[in-house]
Amino acid sequence: MAAVPGGGRPYVLLSCATSIDGYLDDATEQRLLLSNADDLDRVDAVRAGCDAILVGAGTVRRDDPRLVVRAERLRRARVARGLPPSPLKVTLTERGDLDRTARFFTVGDADRIVYCASPAVPKTTELLDGVATVVDAGDPVDPAWMLADLAGRGVDRLMVEGGASVHGQFLAAGVADELHLVVAPFFVGDPRAPRFGGDGPFPWHPGRRARVVEARQIGDVVLVRYALSPRCPDA
Ligand SMILES: NC(=O)c1ccc[n+]([C@@H]2O[C@H](COP(=O)([O-])OP(=O)(O)OC[C@H]3O[C@@H](n4cnc5c(N)ncnc54)[C@H](OP(=O)(O)O)[C@@H]3O)[C@@H](O)[C@H]2O)c1
Repeated sequence: MAAVPGGGRPYVLLSCATSIDGYLDDATEQRLLLSNADDLDRVDAVRAGCDAILVGAGTVRRDDPRLVVRAERLRRARVARGLPPSPLKVTLTERGDLDRTARFFTVGDADRIVYCASPAVPKTTELLDGVATVVDAGDPVDPAWMLADLAGRGVDRLMVEGGASVHGQFLAAGVADELHLVVAPFFVGDPRAPRFGGDGPFPWHPGRRARVVEARQIGDVVLVRYALSPRCPDA
């Protein structure tokens, strides 16, 4: 993949789907489907264009995502470009309480990196022996440091797929270059459910508005792409 001008950290693309009222999920046991089949195909293609995919440990536990490129055509195209079929999988944790049988660790051939807060490193290294590389990322884990480390591992383009806490930290820290926000056509309306963004302050506010670079209807959902930094090619 092309190197990101400026080096230092990868190009960071945040991706999420929300309800009309900004919820990322509901408060039930079942996983809430916000997106639709066509949009999931779009997300698959975005994944295929990245070097790594990151989710927080909360999403690994709650959603048990596979985080692999699903379409054979996209997997083959990556291999033809000399890349593994699916991007590197990345998560971060403070407690380190991750299940080694989660699909994050068991599905696909991609390498996996767990950025772990220092106190939990010994336990987590033992727990995930053979299924992931555990990196001591300080206490607490600093997203900016983690990004620099990923850049050092050859990650030029990172897709951050949630959840609420991780997206919020990346936004608040101003280390996101682009946001893909998909809005599903219903409300959740339950304050117990996680909401996109969380508490600010954020670098984009009434005095500094983010730039919309695309708005597109995909079946019954709407995708809005925002440029969050000058690094976004459409900014
Ligand atoms: N709609 C969407 O597009 C979408 C996408 C993804 C997720 N979601 C939803 O989002 C919810 C999960 O969000 P969430 O906020 O609970 O979890 P999350 O953001 O996925 O993960 C939070 C966890 O990540 C770890 N973490 C985050 N920042 C850290 C830091 N700086 N240092 C060390 N560890 C750090 C901590 O793990 P430990 O607990 O291990 O310490 C923390 O509890 C779920 O309901 C999921 O369904 C929705």
